[in-house]
Amino acid sequence: MRSSKQYVNLSHNKVENHLKTLQNEFEEEVVPTDTVTYKLRQFFWSNFFGFVYHYFKSRFGKRYPYQSYPKDGDSGVYRIPNDATLALLSDWATDTIESDLVGRLVARYQADYTLHLGDVYFVGAPKEIRANFLNPDASWPWGTQGSLALSGNHEMYSNGRGFFEELLPRMGVDQAGVRVSQKAGFFCLENDHWRIIGLDTGYTSVRNPIMEIINPPDCRLKDSQVQWLREQVKLGDSSDSRGLIFLSHHPVFSVFRNAFPKPGEQLREILGKANRPVAWIYGHEHRMVIYHTQQLKNSLTVHGRCIGHGGMPVELKAPETHDPIYFMDDRIRTRLRRRDVSYNGFAYLTLQGPNAVMKYIDVEDTMIFQENWRVENGAVIVEKADAV
Ligand SMILES: [Fe+2]
Ligand SMILES: [Fe+2]
Repeated sequence: MRSSKQYVNLSHNKVENHLKTLQNEFEEEVVPTDTVTYKLRQFFWSNFFGFVYHYFKSRFGKRYPYQSYPKDGDSGVYRIPNDATLALLSDWATDTIESDLVGRLVARYQADYTLHLGDVYFVGAPKEIRANFLNPDASWPWGTQGSLALSGNHEMYSNGRGFFEELLPRMGVDQAGVRVSQKAGFFCLENDHWRIIGLDTGYTSVRNPIMEIINPPDCRLKDSQVQWLREQVKLGDSSDSRGLIFLSHHPVFSVFRNAFPKPGEQLREILGKANRPVAWIYGHEHRMVIYHTQQLKNSLTVHGRCIGHGGMPVELKAPETHDPIYFMDDRIRTRLRRRDVSYNGFAYLTLQGPNAVMKYIDVEDTMIFQENWRVENGAVIVEKADAV
């Protein structure tokens, strides 16, 4: 179990995240009765040599090979019932008291599907995937019909090995009574009225340090993912008038930090001219925000929702502008390291034929926002949205 204090002000700096991973291992190794000399020696070995080795291996080593779905067989497109419940958690895997509380609360809702939108801390190393996510005491709330995961940037700080080798084989959904394990970092859950498409933006969010200076990562959808969207999901089929709900780790729109518009531009190209409004749910920023509907430049018309408040200390920094914000949870829950933090929580989506209800529930099981969506000729319409 980690302390949430360790996560206050955690940056996207890879050096800091690798260092924190090793510091954590060190703290687990030593016991209070160890002598000072022993502690110092351990610290030196673990933090200095360990850090240099792990950092360079991860940052300059090869990323884990990108995984895609085969042309025949498991296509990553899974059928779900017309009435289904889905719990969505993002930036959850911190292995803290907060992540445990959220995990156990979600479990009580017994959702059909539970989805993680990415970020296993600090660097998503295999050991951290097991400790923060897969071990029973990490409290991941398994869906009754399955669980799926997207990659964030943190999983890729260790080149994605933990994500692809440890996490994905344990994720999967039931299809006609058979459990199908997750093969790639993207997926589609669909019924007669909705398509919920999980996008991988994590793999392309990190490059080796030299390449990051020359060509900063833009979280673009890799070619094989675009090909999957075109050929297996058939996203460009204009006769398909189901409502689209995209999930990704990185925000396509934000007023707090840099957003990542590239995936939206790529989807616009696949979807063609018909600009049907879509819902897009994302994390990465550790806060809960409902945006007004935005027509993004060269991209889609998006109902953007940030739910990165799963397990990290929830930031309370004021936005640059309030204009596009419809609702934001800015209640102060507590103070950590002299910083006010807000409430952790998750989103709970209930599909009921062409209608859907999205509830935003905090760690104390208080519903703080609820909205009703409806599909009409392929467009997702927000019928009613209210702070509770
Ligand atoms: Fe995060
Ligand atoms: Fe992130």
